[in-house]
Amino acid sequence: MTRQVLITGGAGFVGSSLGLGLAQLYPDWKIIALDNLKRRGSELNIPRLKQAGIEFVHGDVRNAEDLEASALPVDLILECSAEPSVLAGYTSPGYVLQTNLIGTINCLELARQTQADFIFLSTSRVYPIAYLNQLNYTETDTRFQLSEQQNLPGVSAFGISEQFPLDLPRSLYGSTKLASELIINEYGDAYGLRTLINRCGVLTGPWQMGKVDQGVFALWVANHYFQKSLKYIGYGGTGKQVRDFLHVADLLDLIDIQIANLEQFKGQ
Ligand SMILES: NC(=O)c1ccc[n+]([C@@H]2O[C@H](COP(=O)([O-])OP(=O)(O)OC[C@H]3O[C@@H](n4cnc5c(N)ncnc54)[C@H](O)[C@@H]3O)[C@@H](O)[C@H]2O)c1
Repeated sequence: MTRQVLITGGAGFVGSSLGLGLAQLYPDWKIIALDNLKRRGSELNIPRLKQAGIEFVHGDVRNAEDLEASALPVDLILECSAEPSVLAGYTSPGYVLQTNLIGTINCLELARQTQADFIFLSTSRVYPIAYLNQLNYTETDTRFQLSEQQNLPGVSAFGISEQFPLDLPRSLYGSTKLASELIINEYGDAYGLRTLINRCGVLTGPWQMGKVDQGVFALWVANHYFQKSLKYIGYGGTGKQVRDFLHVADLLDLIDIQIANLEQFKGQ
């Protein structure tokens, strides 16, 4: 089926990677990338998008009119726009709330009006920090290792699952994402939309514009390349904390499967 896809945050790392990947997989799809270019470096993706036949729209998810004017008709929205830095919540809460929550609601409104499918990029940051700090772990030479024995649901030596409790604070960034998740579920239920939420951990891959508070793997590679030092924040600065990194090409594979099977996965 030929699809008309709107990717919000479409010049960002994830949005552009998904757009370029889908354009290659499905040359007959019409793909629009909407972005306000808030993230430094996103502008470098515009020529790449255009070369792949993706239409770039300079727009802002905080303005419903930008979305309505740019995107009709659309039958699939990939909501990849965000202020994705956890630290931004402490310095510019207004922007985080307006983009990550109101922006998502504006995108949902477009989905409601067009009956478009809706796939959302959420985050592992929805999980409360105080609970994460209660986890049992052992310290080995190179890493902190989660113990099999835990006092909370949704955690094992393999990591955190969706059954992990959600009822304590988590950062403003995580809260805007969790609030978006709740409203997405409501829109799915109330308006019969096919919606899907991905709680991503750390994503990485080519063309990520890494900075201290977001895109840390790309930042490390760049620091190494430019012979700068590597620094670790938190947990004593030893760098033993363990995170999974998901390559953006693997995320594309996942999203591709989800788009093809939305009837089966909707609401999850
Ligand atoms: N990269 C990760 O490790 C990671 C992990 C978990 C979740 N996520 C989520 O994935 C999504 C994409 O993240 P990313 O890594 O590509 O970040 P990114 O900063 O590279 O991309 C986000 C894009 O959104 C744009 N944007 C910001 N405010 C906007 C607004 N008001 N209107 C329109 N566009 C706006 C930015 O200019 C940027 O191009 C985000 O929702 C993020 O929360 C990312």
